[in-house]
Amino acid sequence: MIERPLEMKVLVTGRAGFIGSHLVERLLKEGQEVRCLDNFNDYYNPELKRNNIRSFLSERNFKLVEADILDKDALKRIFEKHEKP
Ligand SMILES: NC(=O)c1ccc[n+]([C@@H]2O[C@H](COP(=O)([O-])OP(=O)(O)OC[C@H]3O[C@@H](n4cnc5c(N)ncnc54)[C@H](O)[C@@H]3O)[C@@H](O)[C@H]2O)c1
Repeated sequence: MIERPLEMKVLVTGRAGFIGSHLVERLLKEGQEVRCLDNFNDYYNPELKRNNIRSFLSERNFKLVEADILDKDALKRIFEKHEKP
């Protein structure tokens, strides 16, 4: 179990990929609130990535943002929207 302040949300980038999907599974099991960013690029079949996240879409503590991490405006919106007051 990773010790983390309860009020903290975790942003996972590349969440739909191999490492990100396993990391998010673990964080959700620990009860963490997780925000995920992925652009579902076509480096390999994006459908595999969509399958990786399907089971989490209904989780209360999980929110997916489909965007490119290089998009500064999108990142700004993510932090504004998901940061706790
Ligand atoms: N065993 C398996 O089934 C399997 C499957 C996939 C990968 N792997 C291995 O896992 C390792 C890599 O895993 P990984 O998780 O680092 O890679 P990955 O390619 O699986 O995941 C990276 C994720 O980042 C996203 N991404 C890439 N650029 C982005 C950007 N600019 N903005 C937002 N999102 C972006 C991609 O869409 C992808 O979902 C490699 O060694 C690979 O061979 C194994």
